[in-house]
Amino acid sequence: MKILVLNGPNLNLLGQREPDVYGKMTLAQIESAMRKRATELGATLDFKQSNSEADLVNWIQQATRQHDVIILNAAAYTHTSIAIRDAIVAAAVPTIEVHLSNIYARESFRRESVIAPVCIGQISGFGPMSYILALEAAVNVTVTRKKAVS
Ligand code: DQA
Repeated sequence: MKILVLNGPNLNLLGQREPDVYGKMTLAQIESAMRKRATELGATLDFKQSNSEADLVNWIQQATRQHDVIILNAAAYTHTSIAIRDAIVAAAVPTIEVHLSNIYARESFRRESVIAPVCIGQISGFGPMSYILALEAAVNVTVTRKKAVS
């Protein structure tokens, strides 16, 4: 089972960026916690971050037939990027939207996610644990889908 974890702009600054909102864990620490849990669950992770919308679109496109699930924290692009939304639809890889903060408890411009309608679900507000919950959901979804087609 192969899972692609994508992180959007400014998430490379986790740990130092607004720690009261996003916590003190760095992205590297989140990655290592996810890898530990993935090993326990029998999943393999590809983990990437970019500040560029184009990179995210390219990686989502390339996930077709390569990954079972995408876990995506599109960061600020969540609220604006029709290109990322279109890529999710085109790639046809089940995608789970993740946020560290509860986007519905913040500024009004963060309360809309343009990608949510094309994702299978969203996990928002649990800090770094959002990623672990998304990983558990990703494994569950993949096992259920594989059973359904076998
Ligand atoms: C975020 C929420 C977004 O609104 C924000 O732009 C981010 C991080 C989160 O994980 O809580 O960069 O996606």
